[in-house]
Amino acid sequence: MSLPFKSALITGASAGIGKQYAIELAKAGTSELFLLARRTERLAALCDELDKLTEGKVKTQLITCDLLDAAQRKEVIQRFRAPEIHLDLLVNNAGFGSVGRFDKLDWQRQSDMVNLNCTALAHLAHGIIPGMAARGRGTIINVASTAAFQPLPFMSTYGATKAFVFSLSLALWAEYRRSGVHSIVHCPGPTESEFHIAAGLNDKIDLLTPMPTAPVVIEALQAAAGKRTVIVNGTQNRAMAFLTRFVPYSLLARIVAYKLGPYRGVGEPQAVAKQRQ
Ligand SMILES: NC(=O)c1ccc[n+]([C@@H]2O[C@H](COP(=O)([O-])OP(=O)(O)OC[C@H]3O[C@@H](n4cnc5c(N)ncnc54)[C@H](OP(=O)(O)O)[C@@H]3O)[C@@H](O)[C@H]2O)c1
Repeated sequence: MSLPFKSALITGASAGIGKQYAIELAKAGTSELFLLARRTERLAALCDELDKLTEGKVKTQLITCDLLDAAQRKEVIQRFRAPEIHLDLLVNNAGFGSVGRFDKLDWQRQSDMVNLNCTALAHLAHGIIPGMAARGRGTIINVASTAAFQPLPFMSTYGATKAFVFSLSLALWAEYRRSGVHSIVHCPGPTESEFHIAAGLNDKIDLLTPMPTAPVVIEALQAAAGKRTVIVNGTQNRAMAFLTRFVPYSLLARIVAYKLGPYRGVGEPQAVAKQRQ
Protein backbone atom coordinates (compact mmCIF):
# COMPACT_ATOMS: atom_id res chain seq x y z
CA MET A 1 0.00 0.00 0.00
CA SER A 2 1.41 3.39 -0.95
CA LEU A 3 0.29 6.39 1.12
CA PRO A 4 1.10 10.11 0.91
CA PHE A 5 1.75 10.47 4.67
CA LYS A 6 5.36 11.02 5.66
CA SER A 7 4.59 11.76 9.32
CA ALA A 8 1.66 10.82 11.55
CA LEU A 9 0.43 11.25 15.11
CA ILE A 10 -1.78 8.41 16.34
CA THR A 11 -3.70 8.69 19.60
CA GLY A 12 -4.55 5.48 21.42
CA ALA A 13 -1.64 3.69 19.74
CA SER A 14 -0.99 1.24 22.58
CA ALA A 15 -3.77 -1.21 21.62
CA GLY A 16 -6.40 -2.29 19.12
CA ILE A 17 -7.20 -0.09 16.15
CA GLY A 18 -4.64 2.63 17.01
CA LYS A 19 -1.80 0.10 17.22
CA GLN A 20 -2.84 -1.30 13.84
CA TYR A 21 -2.76 2.22 12.37
CA ALA A 22 0.86 2.46 13.51
CA ILE A 23 1.73 -0.92 11.97
CA GLU A 24 0.04 -0.22 8.62
CA LEU A 25 1.51 3.27 8.32
CA ALA A 26 4.99 1.92 9.10
CA LYS A 27 4.56 -0.83 6.50
CA ALA A 28 3.41 1.73 3.94
CA GLY A 29 6.56 3.80 4.42
CA THR A 30 5.52 6.62 6.76
CA SER A 31 8.91 7.64 8.03
CA GLU A 32 8.01 9.44 11.27
CA LEU A 33 5.41 8.13 13.71
CA PHE A 34 4.34 9.82 16.93
CA LEU A 35 2.58 7.25 19.13
CA LEU A 36 0.42 8.56 21.95
CA ALA A 37 -1.27 6.73 24.86
CA ARG A 38 -1.02 6.48 28.65
CA ARG A 39 0.76 3.11 28.84
CA THR A 40 4.38 3.90 28.03
CA GLU A 41 5.61 0.30 28.24
CA ARG A 42 3.08 -0.76 25.57
CA LEU A 43 4.21 2.09 23.33
CA ALA A 44 7.87 1.16 23.85
CA ALA A 45 7.11 -2.46 22.86
CA LEU A 46 5.33 -1.20 19.74
CA CYS A 47 8.31 1.00 18.83
CA ASP A 48 10.55 -2.12 18.98
CA GLU A 49 8.06 -4.06 16.85
CA LEU A 50 7.95 -1.30 14.23
CA ASP A 51 11.73 -1.03 14.25
CA LYS A 52 12.05 -4.75 13.44
CA LEU A 53 9.22 -4.63 10.91
CA THR A 54 10.80 -1.82 8.90
CA GLU A 55 14.45 -2.74 9.60
CA GLY A 56 14.97 0.59 11.30
CA LYS A 57 13.48 2.70 8.52
CA VAL A 58 10.71 4.27 10.62
CA LYS A 59 11.52 6.90 13.25
CA THR A 60 9.16 6.51 16.21
CA GLN A 61 8.57 8.85 19.10
CA LEU A 62 6.36 7.85 21.98
CA ILE A 63 4.23 10.37 23.79
CA THR A 64 2.92 9.38 27.20
CA CYS A 65 -0.20 11.48 27.66
CA ASP A 66 -3.51 11.18 29.43
CA LEU A 67 -5.84 12.92 26.99
CA LEU A 68 -8.36 13.45 29.77
CA ASP A 69 -5.98 16.04 31.19
CA ALA A 70 -6.37 19.36 29.33
CA ALA A 71 -2.90 20.55 30.41
CA GLN A 72 -1.28 17.44 28.96
CA ARG A 73 -3.25 17.89 25.73
CA LYS A 74 -2.05 21.49 25.46
CA GLU A 75 1.56 20.32 25.83
CA VAL A 76 1.09 17.88 22.96
CA ILE A 77 -0.47 20.58 20.78
CA GLN A 78 2.38 22.99 21.56
CA ARG A 79 4.84 20.34 20.48
CA PHE A 80 3.12 19.95 17.10
CA ARG A 81 2.96 23.71 16.60
CA ALA A 82 6.75 23.89 16.42
CA PRO A 83 7.69 25.09 12.91
CA GLU A 84 10.14 22.21 12.36
CA ILE A 85 7.39 19.59 12.76
CA HIS A 86 5.36 18.99 9.62
CA LEU A 87 2.55 16.64 10.50
CA ASP A 88 0.86 15.02 7.48
CA LEU A 89 -1.67 12.91 9.37
CA LEU A 90 -3.48 13.03 12.70
CA VAL A 91 -5.31 9.83 13.62
CA ASN A 92 -7.75 10.89 16.32
CA ASN A 93 -8.43 7.38 17.59
CA ALA A 94 -8.27 7.17 21.42
CA GLY A 95 -11.66 6.41 22.90
CA PHE A 96 -13.69 4.02 24.99
CA GLY A 97 -17.29 2.98 25.62
CA SER A 98 -19.44 1.54 28.34
CA VAL A 99 -22.48 -0.70 28.44
CA GLY A 100 -25.44 -0.69 30.80
CA ARG A 101 -28.48 1.28 31.83
CA PHE A 102 -27.69 5.00 31.76
CA ASP A 103 -28.45 5.85 35.42
CA LYS A 104 -26.63 2.74 36.70
CA LEU A 105 -23.36 3.63 35.02
CA ASP A 106 -20.72 5.51 36.97
CA TRP A 107 -21.12 9.23 36.19
CA GLN A 108 -17.41 10.06 36.33
CA ARG A 109 -16.75 7.38 33.74
CA GLN A 110 -19.49 8.78 31.45
CA SER A 111 -18.10 12.26 31.86
CA ASP A 112 -14.58 11.01 31.07
CA MET A 113 -15.94 9.32 27.96
CA VAL A 114 -17.38 12.59 26.66
CA ASN A 115 -14.13 14.31 27.55
CA LEU A 116 -11.95 11.76 25.73
CA ASN A 117 -14.15 10.81 22.75
CA CYS A 118 -15.35 14.37 22.04
CA THR A 119 -13.43 17.15 23.83
CA ALA A 120 -9.93 15.71 23.46
CA LEU A 121 -10.55 14.74 19.83
CA ALA A 122 -11.84 18.23 18.97
CA HIS A 123 -9.06 19.91 21.00
CA LEU A 124 -6.32 18.06 19.08
CA ALA A 125 -7.93 18.84 15.72
CA HIS A 126 -8.31 22.49 16.76
CA GLY A 127 -4.66 22.71 17.77
CA ILE A 128 -3.22 20.88 14.79
CA ILE A 129 -5.33 22.23 11.89
CA PRO A 130 -3.67 25.70 11.84
CA GLY A 131 -0.22 24.22 11.07
CA MET A 132 -1.68 21.96 8.39
CA ALA A 133 -3.64 24.85 6.84
CA ALA A 134 -0.55 27.08 6.85
CA ARG A 135 1.36 24.41 4.92
CA GLY A 136 -1.65 23.77 2.68
CA ARG A 137 -1.66 20.03 3.39
CA GLY A 138 -2.70 17.58 6.05
CA THR A 139 -5.23 14.87 6.82
CA ILE A 140 -7.22 14.13 9.95
CA ILE A 141 -8.80 10.72 10.46
CA ASN A 142 -11.44 10.92 13.18
CA VAL A 143 -12.36 7.48 14.47
CA ALA A 144 -16.10 7.33 15.15
CA SER A 145 -18.05 4.08 14.83
CA THR A 146 -21.15 2.61 13.23
CA ALA A 147 -22.59 3.68 16.60
CA ALA A 148 -22.77 7.16 15.03
CA PHE A 149 -25.66 6.22 12.72
CA GLN A 150 -28.40 5.58 15.28
CA PRO A 151 -29.17 6.10 18.97
CA LEU A 152 -27.60 3.37 21.10
CA PRO A 153 -29.77 2.51 24.12
CA PHE A 154 -27.67 0.81 26.85
CA MET A 155 -24.58 2.36 25.28
CA SER A 156 -26.28 5.74 25.14
CA THR A 157 -23.40 8.09 26.02
CA TYR A 158 -21.00 6.19 23.79
CA GLY A 159 -23.38 6.39 20.81
CA ALA A 160 -23.84 10.11 21.38
CA THR A 161 -20.08 10.73 21.48
CA LYS A 162 -19.68 8.97 18.14
CA ALA A 163 -22.51 10.99 16.56
CA PHE A 164 -20.55 14.08 17.70
CA VAL A 165 -17.37 12.79 16.01
CA PHE A 166 -19.26 12.04 12.80
CA SER A 167 -20.84 15.48 12.62
CA LEU A 168 -17.67 17.36 13.59
CA SER A 169 -15.54 15.51 11.06
CA LEU A 170 -17.82 16.22 8.11
CA ALA A 171 -18.21 19.85 9.13
CA LEU A 172 -14.42 20.25 9.34
CA TRP A 173 -14.06 18.65 5.92
CA ALA A 174 -16.38 21.28 4.41
CA GLU A 175 -14.72 24.15 6.31
CA TYR A 176 -11.13 23.30 5.36
CA ARG A 177 -11.36 21.48 2.03
CA ARG A 178 -10.13 24.53 0.12
CA SER A 179 -7.18 24.99 2.47
CA GLY A 180 -5.65 21.58 1.74
CA VAL A 181 -6.70 20.04 5.05
CA HIS A 182 -8.71 16.87 4.55
CA SER A 183 -10.94 15.38 7.21
CA ILE A 184 -12.39 11.86 7.10
CA VAL A 185 -14.57 10.04 9.59
CA HIS A 186 -13.71 6.38 10.11
CA CYS A 187 -16.68 4.22 11.21
CA PRO A 188 -15.66 0.70 12.14
CA GLY A 189 -18.26 -1.81 13.26
CA PRO A 190 -17.32 -4.37 15.90
CA THR A 191 -13.55 -4.87 15.65
CA GLU A 192 -11.11 -7.09 17.53
CA SER A 193 -9.46 -4.94 20.20
CA GLU A 194 -9.42 -4.30 23.94
CA PHE A 195 -12.57 -2.18 23.68
CA HIS A 196 -14.63 -4.63 25.77
CA ILE A 197 -12.02 -4.65 28.55
CA ALA A 198 -12.06 -0.84 28.76
CA ALA A 199 -15.87 -1.04 28.79
CA GLY A 200 -15.70 -3.28 31.85
CA LEU A 201 -17.04 -6.38 30.08
CA ASN A 202 -15.70 -9.88 30.57
CA ASP A 203 -16.58 -10.86 27.02
CA LYS A 204 -17.14 -9.08 23.73
CA ILE A 205 -20.65 -7.88 22.91
CA ASP A 206 -22.15 -10.73 20.96
CA LEU A 207 -23.98 -8.97 18.11
CA LEU A 208 -21.85 -9.14 14.97
CA THR A 209 -18.62 -11.05 14.38
CA PRO A 210 -15.80 -8.59 15.01
CA MET A 211 -13.51 -7.77 12.08
CA PRO A 212 -9.73 -8.08 12.49
CA THR A 213 -8.00 -4.72 12.89
CA ALA A 214 -5.81 -4.98 9.76
CA PRO A 215 -8.51 -4.77 7.04
CA VAL A 216 -10.38 -2.15 9.09
CA VAL A 217 -7.35 0.12 9.16
CA ILE A 218 -6.06 -0.58 5.64
CA GLU A 219 -9.46 0.35 4.20
CA ALA A 220 -9.56 3.56 6.24
CA LEU A 221 -6.05 4.61 5.21
CA GLN A 222 -6.80 3.98 1.54
CA ALA A 223 -10.01 5.99 1.88
CA ALA A 224 -8.11 8.85 3.55
CA ALA A 225 -5.48 8.83 0.81
CA GLY A 226 -8.29 8.86 -1.77
CA LYS A 227 -9.81 11.94 -0.07
CA ARG A 228 -13.04 10.19 0.86
CA THR A 229 -15.03 11.79 3.66
CA VAL A 230 -16.67 8.77 5.33
CA ILE A 231 -15.48 5.16 5.54
CA VAL A 232 -17.63 2.41 7.04
CA ASN A 233 -15.87 -0.96 7.24
CA GLY A 234 -17.43 -4.17 5.96
CA THR A 235 -20.38 -4.88 3.68
CA GLN A 236 -22.77 -5.70 6.52
CA ASN A 237 -21.91 -2.50 8.44
CA ARG A 238 -22.21 -0.41 5.26
CA ALA A 239 -25.63 -1.90 4.49
CA MET A 240 -26.82 -1.24 8.03
CA ALA A 241 -25.52 2.33 8.02
CA PHE A 242 -27.28 2.94 4.70
CA LEU A 243 -30.58 1.42 5.82
CA THR A 244 -30.75 3.61 8.95
CA ARG A 245 -31.59 6.52 6.60
CA PHE A 246 -34.98 4.98 5.83
CA VAL A 247 -36.10 3.97 9.34
CA PRO A 248 -37.73 6.43 11.79
CA TYR A 249 -35.39 7.43 14.64
CA SER A 250 -37.71 6.08 17.35
CA LEU A 251 -37.96 2.69 15.63
CA LEU A 252 -34.17 2.56 15.25
CA ALA A 253 -33.78 3.27 18.96
CA ARG A 254 -36.23 0.50 19.84
CA ILE A 255 -34.49 -2.03 17.59
CA VAL A 256 -31.12 -1.28 19.22
CA ALA A 257 -32.69 -1.36 22.70
CA TYR A 258 -33.96 -4.85 21.89
CA LYS A 259 -30.52 -5.96 20.66
CA LEU A 260 -28.53 -4.44 23.53
CA GLY A 261 -31.22 -5.06 26.16
CA PRO A 262 -29.54 -8.23 27.45
CA TYR A 263 -26.58 -6.04 28.46
CA ARG A 264 -28.66 -3.63 30.54
CA GLY A 265 -27.52 -5.12 33.85
CA VAL A 266 -23.85 -5.33 32.98
CA GLY A 267 -22.95 -1.93 34.36
CA GLU A 268 -19.25 -1.48 34.74
CA PRO A 269 -16.81 -1.95 37.55
CA GLN A 270 -15.38 1.12 39.21
CA ALA A 271 -11.91 2.22 38.20
CA VAL A 272 -11.84 0.05 35.11
CA ALA A 273 -8.80 1.93 33.93
CA LYS A 274 -6.79 0.56 36.85
CA GLN A 275 -7.63 -3.01 35.84
CA ARG A 276 -5.98 -2.46 32.49
CA GLN A 277 -2.46 -2.01 33.87
N1 LIG B 1 -13.31 -2.12 18.77
C1 LIG B 1 -14.47 -1.81 18.26
O1 LIG B 1 -15.36 -2.66 18.10
C2 LIG B 1 -14.72 -0.39 17.80
C3 LIG B 1 -15.78 -0.16 16.92
C4 LIG B 1 -16.02 1.13 16.48
C5 LIG B 1 -15.22 2.17 16.91
N2 LIG B 1 -14.20 1.93 17.78
C6 LIG B 1 -13.38 3.08 18.20
O2 LIG B 1 -12.04 2.83 17.89
C7 LIG B 1 -11.20 3.59 18.74
C8 LIG B 1 -10.11 2.69 19.30
O3 LIG B 1 -10.72 1.71 20.14
P1 LIG B 1 -10.22 0.20 20.22
O4 LIG B 1 -11.37 -0.66 19.88
O5 LIG B 1 -8.94 0.03 19.50
O6 LIG B 1 -10.04 0.08 21.81
P2 LIG B 1 -8.78 -0.29 22.72
O7 LIG B 1 -8.13 -1.53 22.20
O8 LIG B 1 -9.30 -0.28 24.11
O9 LIG B 1 -7.79 0.94 22.50
C9 LIG B 1 -8.09 2.22 23.03
C10 LIG B 1 -6.85 3.08 22.96
O10 LIG B 1 -7.19 4.37 23.52
C11 LIG B 1 -6.20 4.74 24.46
N3 LIG B 1 -6.73 5.58 25.52
C12 LIG B 1 -7.77 5.30 26.35
N4 LIG B 1 -7.92 6.29 27.25
C13 LIG B 1 -6.95 7.21 26.99
C14 LIG B 1 -6.58 8.45 27.58
N5 LIG B 1 -7.24 8.95 28.64
N6 LIG B 1 -5.54 9.14 27.07
C15 LIG B 1 -4.85 8.63 26.01
N7 LIG B 1 -5.16 7.47 25.40
C16 LIG B 1 -6.20 6.76 25.89
C17 LIG B 1 -5.71 3.39 25.02
O11 LIG B 1 -4.38 3.52 25.51
P3 LIG B 1 -3.94 3.59 27.06
O12 LIG B 1 -4.92 2.77 27.84
O13 LIG B 1 -2.55 3.05 27.03
O14 LIG B 1 -3.98 5.04 27.38
C18 LIG B 1 -5.72 2.52 23.79
O15 LIG B 1 -4.52 2.68 23.07
C19 LIG B 1 -12.13 4.18 19.82
O16 LIG B 1 -12.39 5.53 19.52
C20 LIG B 1 -13.38 3.34 19.70
O17 LIG B 1 -14.53 4.04 20.11
C21 LIG B 1 -13.93 0.68 18.23
